[in-house]
Amino acid sequence: MPAPTAASPVEAGLERQIARDPGAFRILTGDRPTGPLHIGHYFGTLANRVRLQRAGVELIVLIADYQALTDRAATTRLPEEVLGLVADYLAAGVDPERATIFAHSQVAALNQLLLPFLSLVSVAEIGRNPTVKDEMAAAGSSAMSGLMFAYPVHQAADILACRANLVPVGKDQLPHLELTRVIARRFNERYSPGSPFFTEPQPLLSSAPMLAGLDGRKMGKSLGNSVPLRASADETARLVAKATTDPDRRITYDPRRRPEVSTLVLIAALCRGEAPEAIADAIGGGGAAALKAVVTEALNDRFAPIRARRREVAADPGYLRAVLEAGNEQARMTADSTLNAVLRLMHTRY
Ligand code: TRP
Repeated sequence: MPAPTAASPVEAGLERQIARDPGAFRILTGDRPTGPLHIGHYFGTLANRVRLQRAGVELIVLIADYQALTDRAATTRLPEEVLGLVADYLAAGVDPERATIFAHSQVAALNQLLLPFLSLVSVAEIGRNPTVKDEMAAAGSSAMSGLMFAYPVHQAADILACRANLVPVGKDQLPHLELTRVIARRFNERYSPGSPFFTEPQPLLSSAPMLAGLDGRKMGKSLGNSVPLRASADETARLVAKATTDPDRRITYDPRRRPEVSTLVLIAALCRGEAPEAIADAIGGGGAAALKAVVTEALNDRFAPIRARRREVAADPGYLRAVLEAGNEQARMTADSTLNAVLRLMHTRY
């Protein structure tokens, strides 16, 4: 896949550096195991991860299972969700020979880093993080778990334990990354002045357009308004058939005035690698039914190989577990070495 148009001059510069020297970069990116990955994840981040891996960047993919516990108590479905994510990654093209897939609950040293990191930030600073603030507003500070409060600091531990220097993110994750950079900087100032231990990781902002859900709301893993990667061709047709449209039979791409129809046009355009305007023009006055037929076919064509690969790997849970265990082991080695250095620099080795 060609490099996407850069989100900004900073991203364009980073893309040039990556093309020149991919081996200088280590990427960490992750997902919460709260449901199957869908086409929004694919076009928003998964495809980009695979592109960077193929360009020769070291890719580490984190399954943030402790983050799934920030706002829910039930853990019985976690094994299924976690292995489901591994299958989604492999199907999308993450190559376990080159990349690392791990679950952060399985890497003790990563989680231990949370404690010294918590000592580097104030309660007020964490409270200003937009995700924490939103949760606080939604749940109230009396209902919010302490783990939810610590969420951005835990994410810093994910990134810094792996010594990642590049984090592909959507805009919503930028404040977490900024806090990670603050923690890295403060650790360096306090415990390794003169020769900084942590590199401040850089965000790689995605240029992919945000896909809205098929009902016009935000696309969500558990809202039933997306198309999961693993959906069958028939399920895809049913999901697209339910999508919200409008009565104007002439199909146009006009995200501001016709958000629902434009979401469908955009999905077909992303699947086919064509401009949304060209897709809309080709449908012309065919109305919502023609649009939905085009979208269904585009999705089913585009994702057929990914779905076939997913069926293959999902049929072998032993293989999925082996991939994850090898990734966990790799992550343990990296995080152990980071924690050892941190303990040494903090004078806490006795
Ligand atoms: N917070 C991210 C999300 O909700 C998942 C995540 C956890 C992550 N740790 C990370 C992403 C580290 C990038 C780097 O999607």
